[in-house]
Amino acid sequence: MKQVVSISLGSSNNNYDFQTSFLGEKFRIRRIGTNGDYDKAVDLLVQLDAETDAFGLGSVKLPPARKNSRLIDMAANFLNYVHDDSSKIAKLRSRLKTPVTTGDHLLNVAYEWAIRSLQFEYTGYFNNARVLFLSGMTHYRMASVMSEFTENMTFADPVIENGISKFMHSFRELDLYAKGAHEILKWVPSKRLTSSAVPIKKWNTHILRKAMQKAHIIVVPYHNFYDYVEDCTPEELGGKTIITTTAYEDRIEFLKNQGVDVIIDTTPKLLKRVVGVNVQEALVIAALGKKQHQITDEEMLELMSSTKTGLRPRLVYPSGKPKQMTRFAFVIHPLSQEQFKLEKAVKPFVNIPGAVDAVEKIVAYAPPWVYSKVTGIKSPTGAEAEGWLITVGGTPKQMMTHSPEFTYKRLLMAARMAKRLGAQIMGLGAFTKVVGDAGVTVAKKAAIPITTGNSYSASGALWAAADAVRRMGLVKIEEGKKINGKTMVFGATGAIGSVCCRLLAMAFEEVYLCGRNIVKLMALKESILKETPNVKLHTIVNPDKYLADMDVIVTATSGMGKQILDITKVKPGCVITDVARPLDLSPKDVAKRPDVLVIESGEILLPGDPKMKDIGLPPKVAYACLAETIVLVLDRRFEVFTIGRDIEWEKVKTIYKMGLKHGMKLAAISGVNGVFSDEDIERVRDLALEARKKLKPTPAN
Ligand SMILES: NC(=O)c1ccc[n+]([C@@H]2O[C@H](COP(=O)([O-])OP(=O)(O)OC[C@H]3O[C@@H](n4cnc5c(N)ncnc54)[C@H](OP(=O)(O)O)[C@@H]3O)[C@@H](O)[C@H]2O)c1
Repeated sequence: MKQVVSISLGSSNNNYDFQTSFLGEKFRIRRIGTNGDYDKAVDLLVQLDAETDAFGLGSVKLPPARKNSRLIDMAANFLNYVHDDSSKIAKLRSRLKTPVTTGDHLLNVAYEWAIRSLQFEYTGYFNNARVLFLSGMTHYRMASVMSEFTENMTFADPVIENGISKFMHSFRELDLYAKGAHEILKWVPSKRLTSSAVPIKKWNTHILRKAMQKAHIIVVPYHNFYDYVEDCTPEELGGKTIITTTAYEDRIEFLKNQGVDVIIDTTPKLLKRVVGVNVQEALVIAALGKKQHQITDEEMLELMSSTKTGLRPRLVYPSGKPKQMTRFAFVIHPLSQEQFKLEKAVKPFVNIPGAVDAVEKIVAYAPPWVYSKVTGIKSPTGAEAEGWLITVGGTPKQMMTHSPEFTYKRLLMAARMAKRLGAQIMGLGAFTKVVGDAGVTVAKKAAIPITTGNSYSASGALWAAADAVRRMGLVKIEEGKKINGKTMVFGATGAIGSVCCRLLAMAFEEVYLCGRNIVKLMALKESILKETPNVKLHTIVNPDKYLADMDVIVTATSGMGKQILDITKVKPGCVITDVARPLDLSPKDVAKRPDVLVIESGEILLPGDPKMKDIGLPPKVAYACLAETIVLVLDRRFEVFTIGRDIEWEKVKTIYKMGLKHGMKLAAISGVNGVFSDEDIERVRDLALEARKKLKPTPAN
């Protein structure tokens, strides 16, 4: 039977002695605590050398892990580095026949594996996350792997180890620091004079707290765990993910009390029984009968995967419920000058001729800024999302006045900002995806996945139209049958308009494709007929004479508020869905026809208890394109989803289904005067029936 002995400088109260089998061999595993007594540890090493196959050394501060650390004999490092008395052990070491390990190699393999497996299991888990390493040196290898998924890393080593009030912000900087070549280290001598000075200490504590507050993930060394976090409050740790090793119950309890959301425990588990990493690595050394430096990462990994739980990091949710937070950004912009007029700073100048025009022009050049944080989105699946509404300054008029590159430039600035904030995907709102090639260039150049949200906008618009038609009750809808009615789409050749045409062609017997370019309309007709041959399609550029026959109209142009359709010619009881932003139908137009139901496309009621600043919609309600961005993060689909003007029908179906899965609901349908109640709809319906009677007098009895 092989013998593994862990000599720990920790308490002897936790000693154990048991037998187990590993890789088909029998082992006796013992732990002997020396209660901090180095001489006793030395004596034990000598005494047990002859009868032991591998020693583990426990309760010691690990030396900094460096590149190629697996090639370094970490035990030797320990023996030379950690304690004044270590020289005794160092001298002794060369005389020992038995290998000695602190478990560092296994720990580093486990760190790497934990990050990679979480990233794989929960797609994009670490993408763009803001990660704070309290000791980058201890987690050098973890940081190296993490740098593949996020650039938002902060290392507190200079602040905590050297008392220098400066963080490092990239893996490259950590690398230089590890090699002793970082510029920051030149500050060290002066720090010796100043670090005990109270103002500097206070300042360092302050910046450390701020760094913790900004982080999504905090990596806490397992040695001296409490030294790193004991002064933290829920303000620093609340809602955070903590990565650590050997998360004992007391540590979990402590983190729970500070409101931590998730604890990722990267401790490797080669045995069912909980033993220290040094014991596990000593076991591997004894089992393989190799010298430490001959054991490769792959061998370590293979051994970890030979146990059922060895490869999976432990996820602890202190609240008892799984937490999966995802992050998005969404770009918005002012829809018209009217929005500027409401701004405090602009109000005094509203009546000065040309002043608002000037503001509109100037603000279009402004770099993007965060308008609102969005919190509280929670899917019934348990997935959660938070995000940022980033605004660019251009109104539709300004975006159309400049070249598309003008808007692309600002959208790419917004994408960089989104990435820095930690967003895993960015959506493009309203006109930002109308200009140029509808998101294609931005998606190509941005270092974050982009979606225009148009798949969900199209599906939302028709979702709302279907709901409104059903509630009006003027069109006969029979299960499994096409609707015997007529429908027209304005802006039919556009991104949203063309999908609406495709969807309506499946539901209605006759569809009128209305646009400005007959060639584009003919091409659209041909492609729809390939998918849906059993529909009557008409291509028109002069819609007026057909308006009186339409039961449903969808208008999705980028006409920027110009008059697109003459509402006075529309059939009484028609349902018009106005998808355009700015709207294609003004409140003045709508008021002309109280017998027509004009709804403002399909807005989406978000799941959970969402909070954000006013975006011109009722609380908890979002534009469908914003909702698409949110659905994608909730489903961990961090990918370019909808871009360009050829929206894929498959994606429209997919996002609709995904939306239902994540608790998205059609918001109460609304018009220019707000939400329509059942009474409002009843009134429109009565007026429509009245008007229809006048149009077609009932035959005399
Ligand atoms: N409600 C929402 O949640 C939501 C979401 C996204 C977008 N939107 C809005 O939906 C609208 C369409 O967006 P999109 O991405 O589909 O834009 P798009 O691909 O650029 O399509 C715009 C369509 O409008 C037509 N058009 C432009 N000016 C016109 C005019 N003066 N008269 C008649 N037709 C005109 C264009 O015709 P040509 O092909 O002849 O140029 C094109 O077919 C925009 O107003 C956008 O802001 C709303």
